[in-house]
Amino acid sequence: MNPLLSRLQPYPFERLRQLFVGITPNADYRPISLGIGEPKHPTPEFIKHALTSSLDGLAQYPGTAGEPKLRDAFRKWQMTRYGLVVDTNTQMLPVNGSREALFAFAQTVIDPSQNPVVVCPNPFYQIYEGAALLAGAQPYFAPVDPKRNFAVDWDSVPLDIWARTQLIYVCSPGNPTGAVMPLEEWKKLFALSDRFGFVIASDECYSEIYFRDEPPLGGMQAASKLGRSDFRRLVSFTSLSKRSNVPGLRSGFVAGDSAYIKQFLLYRTYHGSAMSPVVQRASAAAWEDEKHVVENRDMYRRKFAEVTPMLATVLDVQLPDAGFYLWAGVKGSDVDFARELYAQYNVTVLPGSYLARDGSSGNPESSKGAGANPGAGRIRMALVAETAECLEAAQRIVQFVKNRS
Ligand SMILES: Cc1ncc(COP(=O)(O)O)c(C=O)c1O
Repeated sequence: MNPLLSRLQPYPFERLRQLFVGITPNADYRPISLGIGEPKHPTPEFIKHALTSSLDGLAQYPGTAGEPKLRDAFRKWQMTRYGLVVDTNTQMLPVNGSREALFAFAQTVIDPSQNPVVVCPNPFYQIYEGAALLAGAQPYFAPVDPKRNFAVDWDSVPLDIWARTQLIYVCSPGNPTGAVMPLEEWKKLFALSDRFGFVIASDECYSEIYFRDEPPLGGMQAASKLGRSDFRRLVSFTSLSKRSNVPGLRSGFVAGDSAYIKQFLLYRTYHGSAMSPVVQRASAAAWEDEKHVVENRDMYRRKFAEVTPMLATVLDVQLPDAGFYLWAGVKGSDVDFARELYAQYNVTVLPGSYLARDGSSGNPESSKGAGANPGAGRIRMALVAETAECLEAAQRIVQFVKNRS
């Protein structure tokens, strides 16, 4: 058996399941889950139609690089959304959702013989850690700073860690914080990448759900603004799951530095991760339409505008830049909060500490003592259900906190 498998951590939802073992939630309330970040708004009909009218595609083996029509849809979207000129032949690839691609990318770029490090934000999307471990690298966790809108404290990463870093994961808009990385922060990361030679994997799967007027800055857009139009050592990961409410379609794309895309294509060809032709055609239709994306965003905006102020009366929480989570401070233990809330009000939230690592246990020897778990004392609430259901959950949380204090 691959010994690295034993280094994988239980997934946060598995830990939540364990936390709730033996608890019978209050039967006076029907269950509401704000735990899992799975989009629940309806899939647009035209995407379903594009899928079912493409079933003839089942009679073909797909190419890993994708059909020209799909690649052209990526190109047009990159142009309209970010004003970027991206080469369809050398700078982009379809992927079966960003999750598998974020994982597979580490397997493509890590050289395990060089004592490699993969730097991740903390809290973070757990795939980054698993990808690093299975690629034979040591993950290093850089904490977010609540005083700076949860920006990642890249300055806290010691030089000896940067010197070993081969890959960093960046998540903007962030899960769970919703923070969008500004241009200045990109500038810092590009300078570090130039100095130490690591590649930046930019996870942008929440880019289309935002609450400020200005759409979130993309990594490649930042590169282009800073004169790096070859996107050197940068690959972005984009997904239809949240943008178009199709998490079951498994569809996204990567774009960026052609040298990395070329090697990623090689890896993917052997791994057998070509996208089904049926999915490719439905995906092209989804990328070519923006109307449904605007409507989806409006639904989240209305929902967050109603729910956030209600929760802010009892929790340390504010409207994030983007994404579909509230990352709220609670008094005392986040784990106790989640357990008691579930028992008393049948509402599921995710303890923040399950999404982060303790600085001292998560990081390599050289940096022990890098701090406590930055998710402790916070909970993540995914506002993915209908507004009425989210409001009901918020009302129960308000009641719960008032009764507790
Ligand atoms: C930060 C982050 N990245 C990537 C993904 C993967 O999304 P998908 O594989 O559906 O594109 C998720 C899913 O929840 C996520 O939260």
